Amino acid sequence: MDKLVITGGKPLKGTIAVSGAKNSALPILFATILSDQPCKLENVPNVVDIQTTLKLLSNLGISCEWNKSLCTIQAKTLTNTEAPYDLVRTMRASVLCLGPILARMGKARVSLPGGCSIGARPVNLHLMALEKMGAEITLESGYIDAKVKKLRGAEITFEKISVGATEHTMMSAVLAEGTTVIHNAALEPEITDLANFLRAMGAKIEGDGTPTITIQGVTQLHGCSHSVIGDRIEAGTYLIAAAGNKNSDVTVTQINPAHIKALLDKLKDTGAIVEVQKQGNAGAVRVIAPSTVQSVDISTQPYPGFPTDMQAQFMALLCLAKGRSVVTENIFENRFMHVAELMRLGAQITIEGKTAVINGSENHLHGATVMATDLRASACLVIAGLAANGTTQIRRIYHLDRGYQKMEEKLKALGAHIHREKESQ
Ligand code: EPZ
Repeated sequence: MDKLVITGGKPLKGTIAVSGAKNSALPILFATILSDQPCKLENVPNVVDIQTTLKLLSNLGISCEWNKSLCTIQAKTLTNTEAPYDLVRTMRASVLCLGPILARMGKARVSLPGGCSIGARPVNLHLMALEKMGAEITLESGYIDAKVKKLRGAEITFEKISVGATEHTMMSAVLAEGTTVIHNAALEPEITDLANFLRAMGAKIEGDGTPTITIQGVTQLHGCSHSVIGDRIEAGTYLIAAAGNKNSDVTVTQINPAHIKALLDKLKDTGAIVEVQKQGNAGAVRVIAPSTVQSVDISTQPYPGFPTDMQAQFMALLCLAKGRSVVTENIFENRFMHVAELMRLGAQITIEGKTAVINGSENHLHGATVMATDLRASACLVIAGLAANGTTQIRRIYHLDRGYQKMEEKLKALGAHIHREKESQ
């Protein structure tokens, strides 16, 4: 196991090219199951969750080649229709293979993902949608067993906005007989990226990026080329780190600034100077740290609101702010695991239900040994460590490696004093 060692208080200066979005690449990789022809994906990030996905696809008999950020996948035939516990356990998004395997093979068996550190995270909405499309689903011995002669289009209304259930339903509907309409769909940029990929394969989808998505089933999909969008959460993480370190001036590139508008608005409220230098998917944003970080309240919401995936990182910044900030987490019931670790670094935070109150001060954070508990909590601790006085050691950073490509190398290039060491057990 590795740990990160950070000596804080160094200004961050320079430019970082953001990697492809993990949360876009994952559903897109599962969508390749839908065609027997080769799909070429560019800008795929080299992170552990992608490695896990490729293992899962290979286990289904699918050919996967990965060279730098280019993945070529061809699901000529599927020799297996099961996603076993050992692969699903390590990555909840694996459940997204259920619909594509079912659409292609008429049957699928996928381990139930179970809970995780940020919440219970059920998959009832995913299964409800498949059942509406005619799938027969049984849950037995920790597995979801699904079978169907042919999925058929349906009218599906989600009682709650779910990114995964929206993606799963889109992927399941593209080869179904007839038209599927998804109501109360998620609006995240990753949904549109998946829709663009599916359209490039020949799917007929309209309305992505709005609450109503209409999919007209087609009989088959062909191969295609697609470039994954830049990772808005990775970009946001580096911009927040810049805002938290005095005299920092950081530009992130290969990111669509429109995808991080909610974050940029809050960064401006902290007093940071925010400059959108280039719009579009290959855009660029520059952040210059404020001399004093002002307190700000945030409340997580589905896109285009403030993302839950940036709540922990932003809280690290608020620990350094002048005065009291309130953070409300509305998406997951247990996403304050980082609070206890931030307090080990000297932060003053109280939690009541889904709200955390942070009494910030620019001198609060000092180095300590802390433990990463999930992906974004780990990124939060890195931001805190970069701003703290003295040395911070972050243990169990395998969580970080699930979603950030070469984080310490990118930060080092900006002038951070950070390195990776083997942990003695
Ligand atoms: C995606 O998870 C992301 N993962 C998460 O990123 C992100 O935090 C989340 O969306 C919210 O933005 C990927 O894209 C791979 P949801 P997902 O279904 O799809 C409840 C990260 O750090 N719900 O939108 O699993 C659920 O419990 C990860 O990169 C049901 O009740 O999230 C939650 O409260 C962590 N029933 C809410 O909906 C269901 O069937 C939103 O979850 C499905 C979800």
